[in-house]
Amino acid sequence: MKIGFFDSGIGGLSVLHQALKFLPNEDYLFYADTLHVPYGEKPKEEVRKYIFEAVDFIANQGVKALVIACNTATSIAVKDLREKYDFPIIGIEPAVKPAVLNCQNKQKKVLVMATELTLKEEKFSQLVKSVDNQDIVDSIPMPGLVELAERFEFREEQVVPYLKKQLASFDLEQYGTVVLGCTHFPYFESSIRALFSEEVNIISGNMGTAKNLKNILASMGEINDGTGNISFYQSGVKVEDEKTLGCYKKLLKL
Ligand code: DGL
Repeated sequence: MKIGFFDSGIGGLSVLHQALKFLPNEDYLFYADTLHVPYGEKPKEEVRKYIFEAVDFIANQGVKALVIACNTATSIAVKDLREKYDFPIIGIEPAVKPAVLNCQNKQKKVLVMATELTLKEEKFSQLVKSVDNQDIVDSIPMPGLVELAERFEFREEQVVPYLKKQLASFDLEQYGTVVLGCTHFPYFESSIRALFSEEVNIISGNMGTAKNLKNILASMGEINDGTGNISFYQSGVKVEDEKTLGCYKKLLKL
């Protein structure tokens, strides 16, 4: 059986890219909810409805596990999804814990970039509260990066001016770690890096999520020796057009 990967858009491919390193011989179903992207700027209840519609579709195709490769969807729905479906559901959350561990006692702060919805959620404040006893975690929404990614616009000359505008009121020297708390953001790592000093760590939960998936499948005895085939869907419709498939494969570095 396949492993499902779900995101509002192309961000999920940055997680699938990591999973392919650990689990190259599985078959995958990648689902992007392109009709409703971006999630991060919409009301929570509306996004929840889209998530359940998408996961119903994926479940009907038959999957042995599902990765919610979206920090926003994880923060607002992972608990309820796990109650509804009987296959394992692996979520992703901003990597705040390793970031705080890395910066504590170094007189450096942590900057979390994510969607507005992720940052507004109780799950995020609880996460920060549980690890940030020195009050070193700042956060900022970056909706423009989701828009740029969905237009396949990754050129630094387009991205850096947006980042500079968003970060204009921040003293960037004070940060030791930047957390990419949205799966659309790793595509912009080099542009983000250009704004910070060389020693700054830029991290995401992507690799941890992929390892988590592997461990869960291993514990179930469900690791396959399959073909490594990936089928792509956009909001319930199989992607057949070569141009889109080409862009997806490029992001997966296939
Ligand atoms: N890629 C998603 C995340 O990790 C959400 C982007 C969006 O749809 O706003 O949060």
